[in-house]
Amino acid sequence: MELPPRPKLFDFHGVSMTNYFTGNWDNVQNFQARPDDILIATYPKAGTTWVSYILDLLYFGQTAPERQRPIFEKVPFLELLIPLYPPGVEVLDKLTTSPRLIKSHLPVQLLPKSFWEQNCRIVYVARNAKDSAVSYFHFDRMNRTQPEPGVWNNFLQRFMDGKMVFGSWYDHVTGWWEKKQTHSKILYLFYEDMVEDTGRELDRLCSFLGLSPSAEEKERVRGGVQFDIMKKNSMANYSTNPVMDFKISPFMRKGKVGDWKNHFTVAQSEQFDEDYKKKMENTQLRFHTTI
Ligand code: A3P
Repeated sequence: MELPPRPKLFDFHGVSMTNYFTGNWDNVQNFQARPDDILIATYPKAGTTWVSYILDLLYFGQTAPERQRPIFEKVPFLELLIPLYPPGVEVLDKLTTSPRLIKSHLPVQLLPKSFWEQNCRIVYVARNAKDSAVSYFHFDRMNRTQPEPGVWNNFLQRFMDGKMVFGSWYDHVTGWWEKKQTHSKILYLFYEDMVEDTGRELDRLCSFLGLSPSAEEKERVRGGVQFDIMKKNSMANYSTNPVMDFKISPFMRKGKVGDWKNHFTVAQSEQFDEDYKKKMENTQLRFHTTI
């Protein structure tokens, strides 16, 4: 099988992107959301797959084993256009399950307008900048549909400059945070909270979605989405995805809060913090970088 080439980064409406996410743009912008669609929106590496799998289990957990499919097929990626797969929009248009669970990494200003017109529920997940950067670095190393990450120090500088696929982390998390202040159908979750107490965050999700699973059902979901369990689950760990090279780094890598300490030098951390303060000075949004 011929793998797609690594793409180049370019400016797209003020956001760094690659053609694997802009190539189908008219169809993405004209995408017709349905009122019961649930959108999982994130900056890359914030725990998208984790929340996708939680929602999949909550809604479709009783699916017979022989009908199970990888999570990246069950929760289609709206803006995706890579050679090996049908475009995300096409898959979604054909999907007859209800609700449709939809993944997107688009910054808030680029989301197709029908999601707002249909007043869809949106679950946004945010993860602290330092762990996001580390996770993104390893992801770009092992994923052939991402630009070459280069060495860590340069990658970190690019992260701070917002020259990443899907643009600036700072703009993404604050853009969605501001939107949430005036839009009641957005639940804003934090990866760090989910690691700290998955059951509590599961309750928040259920109450936002109007679901009331039994205690046993909830426990089944909570158990099934633990890092070590998901890492071994071929339907949830991306091991069936040909563009990823697990010999370089697994998709389910560490699943920790604070792994950044193993990557940032003291000088990098200080410089990052100083820059972070400036970039985030106008927002009330706060993250934990340890728990
Ligand atoms: P690490 O690279 O830090 O391990 P996304 O799905 O948005 O690409 O995010 C991937 C990150 O979420 C990876 O982080 C992955 O290990 C982590 N992750 C996925 N499932 C998880 C789980 N059940 N518990 C904790 N972290 C999880």
